[in-house]
Amino acid sequence: MNSWLENPSIVDLRSQPRSWLVTGAAGFIGSNLVECLLQLDQKVCGLDNFATGHRRNLDLVRDSVTPAQWQNFGWMEGDIRDLDCCQRACQGIQHVLHQAALGSVPRSLENPIATHEANASGFLNMLVAARDAAVQSFVYAASSSTYGDHPDLPKVEDRVGRPLSPYAVTKLVNELYAEVFGRNYGFPSIGLRYFNVFGPRQDPDGAYAAVIPKWFDALLHGRPVHINGDGETSRDFCFVENVVQVNLLAALAEPAAMNQVYNVAFGQSTTLNQLFQLIVENLAALDRQPAQATPVYQGFRAGDVRHSLADITKAKELLGYAPEYSVRDGLRKAARWYTQD
Ligand SMILES: NC(=O)c1ccc[n+]([C@@H]2O[C@H](COP(=O)([O-])OP(=O)(O)OC[C@H]3O[C@@H](n4cnc5c(N)ncnc54)[C@H](O)[C@@H]3O)[C@@H](O)[C@H]2O)c1
Repeated sequence: MNSWLENPSIVDLRSQPRSWLVTGAAGFIGSNLVECLLQLDQKVCGLDNFATGHRRNLDLVRDSVTPAQWQNFGWMEGDIRDLDCCQRACQGIQHVLHQAALGSVPRSLENPIATHEANASGFLNMLVAARDAAVQSFVYAASSSTYGDHPDLPKVEDRVGRPLSPYAVTKLVNELYAEVFGRNYGFPSIGLRYFNVFGPRQDPDGAYAAVIPKWFDALLHGRPVHINGDGETSRDFCFVENVVQVNLLAALAEPAAMNQVYNVAFGQSTTLNQLFQLIVENLAALDRQPAQATPVYQGFRAGDVRHSLADITKAKELLGYAPEYSVRDGLRKAARWYTQD
């Protein structure tokens, strides 16, 4: 695996290190990006306000790189809702990977203003700061939630419906602002519409935890796993290392591939029942057979779409994205992560 690191544009990075800003660096996806960039000997600045991220994620990154690589990491505790902070962070930066946001649809339904401030106003601050700093590329975390109520499957980039939550509105607004900045200022950006990302360092705690870390945690601690609905709801789960790959390829993409949005997924549908079985099998393979290996079914959750599946042809063709981890491969790595003491 990791043959994408042989991609010529990635190989060039090692001989000509660039300066990168990763926002949301203490979070799940952000810290995985920082780790990979440092391992490629890049100069990386991380920005985060610890709203949902953790200092321990950065400690783990430090432990996974050499002391010399860690020297290339600059840290800035700060808030993207503060334009001045964004401007300071963008100084001298060539590539921005913008991940900072408040995730979770239910959180946005409970507190739409907080979600708007971080995800929409914070995003606009970052765009302005990155434009003023004349960065070479700005890659941002968009979301599959932008497909909203559009019925088509698989999801294709140019066919979106109406957003179904405040979170989805903010992610759609990101795309609209990025497009307008491209048109008016020639600002080079790429939006990556992530579909259900999972992997090491995804937070199992809190009311808004995602399903995979939550289930690993429940099974490992002898608590029941609750499935909303009949378990035949399906998602296109994507291992985080595939997401890291596509972020780097997007940041270094040719101008013709810029100012567009791309689906980021594995391109395969997994039902919640299948996911549950895969997690149980992976734990059993590590001698952590869960005591309670049957899920508890409860009512469907309002606002959840029944099926979500991405067409990833565009990212494959224009960015050279070649996801290397299937759901099964990714869960094997995730299981090792959640069971390590
Ligand atoms: N994980 C997924 O499945 C998924 C799917 C679609 C989109 N996304 C998007 O990917 C990005 C990263 O998500 P994640 O899963 O790593 O979540 P995460 O919560 O682990 O990471 C987000 C990080 O942003 C930071 N942050 C939040 N508000 C901030 C602010 N005002 N200023 C500075 N930092 C702030 C948080 O502290 C956190 O470290 C987000 O934009 C999210 O909306 C994630």
